[in-house]
Amino acid sequence: MDIEELCQQVMTSKEVVVPENAALIGGSKDNFLSVGCAVFRELAHSTQLSPDSRVLDIGSGLGRVAYPLAHFLKNGHYVGLEIVKDSVDFCQKNIVPLTAPKAHFEFIHTDIHNTFYNSSAKSELINYEFPDLGEFDVVFMSSVCTHLNNEDLLHYFKLVQQWTRSGGDFLATWFLVDNLAREQLLNPIKSHALPFDLSGKGPDYFLKSQDKSTAAVAYDVDYILDLYKSHSFTTISNMYLGPWSGVERHIGAFQDLIVARKD
Ligand SMILES: C[S@@+](CC[C@H](N)C(=O)[O-])C[C@H]1O[C@@H](n2cnc3c(N)ncnc32)[C@H](O)[C@@H]1O
Repeated sequence: MDIEELCQQVMTSKEVVVPENAALIGGSKDNFLSVGCAVFRELAHSTQLSPDSRVLDIGSGLGRVAYPLAHFLKNGHYVGLEIVKDSVDFCQKNIVPLTAPKAHFEFIHTDIHNTFYNSSAKSELINYEFPDLGEFDVVFMSSVCTHLNNEDLLHYFKLVQQWTRSGGDFLATWFLVDNLAREQLLNPIKSHALPFDLSGKGPDYFLKSQDKSTAAVAYDVDYILDLYKSHSFTTISNMYLGPWSGVERHIGAFQDLIVARKD
C-alpha cells in the first residue's frame, strides 16, 4: 500500500486508540498520530523497511510509531523496548490486536533507570540483561537519544551495533549542537529555542536549571558522528537538522535526524 494512503488510514481509523496521557512522551493527543506517521514516513523513505522486515523500536513509548508499523508489517517482526510499564501495557492492549496474523509484535518492559522517565528503577542500563533479541533489519530510536545521558548513549550504541544486521539501518533523532545551533542557543532570539546550558565542555548538554535531568539532552554533532563511525555505521544515508535550536532549517520535523547503514 502507498505510504500516504496508509498514514491517512491510521489517522482516521476508529480502531486506533490515542492515549489520554500522550503528553508523557512530549506530545499531545492532537499530534500523536501525525508525529508517529512522520517518523514512519522517514523509516519508509530512508531505510530498507519492507512488510517483511524485522524492526526494533528502542524506547517505544505509547506506540506512536508502532501504530503505522502495525498497519504496514505483514509477515515482519516488531519488538518495542520501553522502560515505563504502563506504556508497555497500553501498547500490548491497543496495538497488538491490530496487527496482521502473520506479523509478530511484542512490547517488552525493561525496567531501566532514567532520571526523567523512570527514576525509581534500580537497574542502570549498563548492567541490564536484555533477552536474546537476535538481529534486526531496521533499528530506530525516535526522540529517545534526546533523553539519554552520555553513559547510556554509549551503551546503546554498542547494543545497536549488535542488534543491527550487517547492511541494516539505524534511524535516530537528536538535538545536535553545531556552530549555528551554538550561536543561536547562546543568543536566543526565537522563543521556541530550547534553553540548553552550553557552559560545560560537552559532549552532552542539559536544560538550564534542570540539574542534569534527562528531560532533554543535546550533544556535540562531531561527537555523535564519530560514535556512528566507531560502531560500524560508516554510511550516513540521510541527515537533516531541525529547528529546535531556533535556527530555521528543515521544515516538518522539530528534532535532528540521522539514518545510517551498518557496514
Ligand atoms: C519522548 S518519548 C518517545 C517515545 C517514542 N519513541 C515516540 O517517538 O513516540 C521517550 C521515550 O524513551 C523512553 N526511554 C527513556 N530512557 C530509555 C532507555 N534507557 N531505554 C529505553 N527507553 C527509554 C521513555 O520512557 C519514553 O517512552
